[in-house]
Amino acid sequence: MQEKLTFNALLDKWSRFWTENNHKQIKNSSLVPDGDTSVLFTTAGMQPLVPYLLGRPHPNGTRLYNVQTCLRTDDIEEVGDSSHLTSFHMLGNWSLGDYFKEESIKYSFNFLTNPKWLNIPLEKLSVTVFKGDENAPYDEVSAAAWEKLGIPKSRIYPLGKKDNWWAAGDTGPCGPDTEIFYDTGKPSCGESCGPACNCGKHIEIWNNVFMEYNVPAPGAKPEKLPKQNVDTGMGADRVLCVLNGYETVFERTCFMGAIVILEELSSHFSYNPSKKDNNSEAVNKDFRIIADHLRSAVFLLGDEMPTTPSNTGRGYILRRLIRRAIMCARKLYITDSRQLTKVIEYYIRYYANLYPNMDMRASDIVGEFVKEADAFGKTLASGMKEFETVVSTIKSSSERSNLITGQQVFRLYDTFGFPPELTEELAKEKGLTVDMAGFKVAYAEHQEKSRAGGADMFKGGVFRGDGAQEEMLKKLHSATHLLHAALGKVLGNTSLQRGSNITAERLRFDFLCDHKLTDDEIKRVEELVNSWIKADEPIVCNEMSLDEAKRSGAIGIFSDKYGEKVTVYSMGGFSKELCGGPHASRTGELGSFKITKEEASSAGVRRIKAELR
Ligand code: ALA
Repeated sequence: MQEKLTFNALLDKWSRFWTENNHKQIKNSSLVPDGDTSVLFTTAGMQPLVPYLLGRPHPNGTRLYNVQTCLRTDDIEEVGDSSHLTSFHMLGNWSLGDYFKEESIKYSFNFLTNPKWLNIPLEKLSVTVFKGDENAPYDEVSAAAWEKLGIPKSRIYPLGKKDNWWAAGDTGPCGPDTEIFYDTGKPSCGESCGPACNCGKHIEIWNNVFMEYNVPAPGAKPEKLPKQNVDTGMGADRVLCVLNGYETVFERTCFMGAIVILEELSSHFSYNPSKKDNNSEAVNKDFRIIADHLRSAVFLLGDEMPTTPSNTGRGYILRRLIRRAIMCARKLYITDSRQLTKVIEYYIRYYANLYPNMDMRASDIVGEFVKEADAFGKTLASGMKEFETVVSTIKSSSERSNLITGQQVFRLYDTFGFPPELTEELAKEKGLTVDMAGFKVAYAEHQEKSRAGGADMFKGGVFRGDGAQEEMLKKLHSATHLLHAALGKVLGNTSLQRGSNITAERLRFDFLCDHKLTDDEIKRVEELVNSWIKADEPIVCNEMSLDEAKRSGAIGIFSDKYGEKVTVYSMGGFSKELCGGPHASRTGELGSFKITKEEASSAGVRRIKAELR
C-alpha cells in the first residue's frame, strides 16, 4: 500500500518550503502542556508558543515552523466517521510580529498550489474570512489577498465569530482567521452548501489565524497586542487524505497498516469502506476506532512526559481510549486484548523516525498497555454480569422502559468499575438509552458526600471536584430545559430532544431538526433563553402521576424511570419538563447563555453546545 504522497514526503516538502522562506524549525512539544493548566493536552501547535505570541522574544527568531502532535478529545464520539481523529499532526508556521495577513496567505497559497510543492489546482480551493463583529472589523485585507491570488469572490466566504475567530481557550492570544477548504468533488448538499455546512464536500485543510488580540480574563473584551502575529495549522492526516483521493482519513497508510493487523487478528471480519450497509459500516467503524485510539494511546504512552492509565485527568482519557479500543476489538471477535500489542508495536515502529525516543521505550509502552488490558479484563468479567442483570430487569419490567437510569450507571461504575461510556455503548447495542446527565449528577452527589475531591474523570478534565461543580451542573441542567423549550418555539415543534450531556463547563443537546440552524434561528434561541433567565422565575418541582404529567403538557422522555410518581420541573410559563432533577433554584442564577457550536449529529439530528457565562 503506497501512498501517492507519503507522510514523510509531506514533512520533507514542509520543511524545505519553510527553510527556503527563512523560517526556523522548532521541536515537537510534549502532549502534556508545560505549566499551562487551562488545557489537559496540547491541542494546537501554538500552545507552547503562547508566551511568545504575547510578546516575549523567541530564541529562534520571528519566523518559525514545526510539526506538532496534538490530541483533542472533544469530538471523541465522532471518531469512526470519515475525518475525525483524537490525535493528529499539525503542521504550523508562525510569524511573531514579522509578516502578517497578506504574506501569510501568499505562503499558504504557494505551498498548496505551486507544482513544486503540493500542486493543488486552484479550482479545488475555497476560503472563509472573518466577517466582522463588535470586537473586530471585517477582514477585507485577507479577502483582497485571496482575490489577488486568483480565488474568485464566489469562493471567498465571509463568516462570523463561530467559524472565523480562533482562540485556544477562554483567555490568551486570539484573532480572526481565514480557513482554507478543499473541494472533495462530492455532490453539493444544496443551495446553501459551502465550507461551513459540514456536509463533507468541503474539507478544511489549513487555518491561518491572525493573532493581534489578547483576552486578558474570561469574558473580557479582546485587546490589541503590541505585535501582529500569525499562527497557522494544517492537519497532516486530512491533507494526505484529500490529496491521495481517499474517502476517509483511515485509508492513510499508517492506519491501514494497523487495520490489516486487526483483520488478521479478527479472522471473522474485514474492513471494507466501500460497503455502506449498516452492518458493514458498524464493522468499519470498529476498525477505525481501534486504529485511532491505539495510535493516540501510543502517542500518550510514548510521549517525552508519558501519561499512564489512571482514574483522573489525562490518565483517565488514556484509560478510556484503551478500553474503548478493547471493547471495539471484542466486537470484531478479538477477545484476547493482549493481542492488540501487535498494533501498539506497529505504531511504535511506524513513528520511530518522528519520535526517536519512543522506539527505545517500546517495552515500557507495551508493558503499560498490557497492564491496562489485563486490569480491564477483570473489570469486564464482573461488570458484564451486572450489566446483563440491569438489562433483563429493564426488559422484563411492565413499563416497557428503555432507559438505564443515572443511578444504575453509577452503580456499575462505582461498584464494578464499569466506565460510563462503556455502559452507554453496550446499552446502544441492546436498544437502550442511558441517562448520562443523571449519572453525572449521581457522581457529583457521591463525590460531594464522600468529599473524595479531585477525581477528575470526565472529558477535558472538567469535573474539578470542588463544591462549585455541582452548582454548575444544576445550572447547565436548567439551561438545557430552557434551550429545549426555546428550540420548540423557534422550530415550531416540542419534545425535540434526542440526547443530552452535561459537563461542568458546557451543555450538549441533540435534537430533531432537518436543517442546519440559520444564524437568525440561533440568535432567536439565545435571545429567548436569555430573556427567560432575565425573568428570574423560580424553578419549581412538582410530583404527580405519569398521566397527570402528560395531561399537563410536560415534555420529556416518558418511561418508568421514575416509577409511578414522576417529577415535573416548571420554569415560569415557558418550560415544563419531566425530569429527575436536580436544578438551580431560579432561572436568574444561570447568568448568560451562549451557543458555542451547532453541527450535525446524525441523520435528521442536530447538536448544540452551549455555555453559561
Ligand atoms: N491554532 C490554529 C488551529 O488550531 C491554527 O486551528
